[in-house]
Amino acid sequence: MTNDKGRMTARGKFITFEGPEGGGKTTHARRLVEQLQAAGRQVLYTREPGGTPTGEAIRDILQHDKAGEAPCSETEVLLFAASRAQLVRHVIIPALERGAWVVCDRFADSTTAYQGYGRGFPVEQMIAINEFAINGAQPDLTLLLDLPVSDGFARLQQRGGQKDRIEREALEFHERVRAGYLAMAQRWPERFRVVDVRRPVEEVTAEIWNLVERVSR
Ligand SMILES: Nc1ncnc2c1ncn2[C@@H]1O[C@H](COP(=O)(O)OP(=O)(O)OP(=O)(O)O)[C@@H](O)[C@H]1O
Ligand SMILES: [Mg+2]
Repeated sequence: MTNDKGRMTARGKFITFEGPEGGGKTTHARRLVEQLQAAGRQVLYTREPGGTPTGEAIRDILQHDKAGEAPCSETEVLLFAASRAQLVRHVIIPALERGAWVVCDRFADSTTAYQGYGRGFPVEQMIAINEFAINGAQPDLTLLLDLPVSDGFARLQQRGGQKDRIEREALEFHERVRAGYLAMAQRWPERFRVVDVRRPVEEVTAEIWNLVERVSR
């Protein structure tokens, strides 16, 4: 790959944060962005759904029933995929090609976990929809921030604020999501790393940085 001055540039790395509610995805994604920047890397931070004008409009519909009706579950899957397709082509791939690192707070695995394992749509179908949407742009590293569902909700309660539509789902739904994530980590061990986040933030930050340094080699 060459940049606009004709010099060779290495492709950046693509890192995603996944896991059940309240594990610390946003906390650690932001910390990682700061650490990478301090290490002199160009970094792009995106969130899912969203990250493009089309994606942000879709996010609004999904989170606030803005269309005046709750999207049915099939629509929800396709809206997430649509947002993702746009983000991959307009933002993620161009950033990686210019050598930036991309850090994403949730990505395709969230659909497999929430709509597949959680909601009960066929998991293989969710994976196929994701493949169509992301067109080969798999993360180099997926950090699965894992903790018991009740611990995650206790943290969210401390954080305060209103629960969104997905957070209000029944506890069993979130248990299926968590188990689904762990199954995915076993299925794709080369990409997934499970991080036990029932520890102080600083310890988790250090472990994540170790894992990230290993991908950069
Ligand atoms: N290791 C930790 N120990 C204790 N509290 C933590 C830890 N990591 C994060 N928190 C706190 O837990 C709360 C949830 O963290 P955060 O919002 O980063 O999680 P999240 O995974 O992004 O949640 P959501 O699923 O809602 O997006 C925050 O108040 C955060 O400060
Ligand atoms: Mg978050």
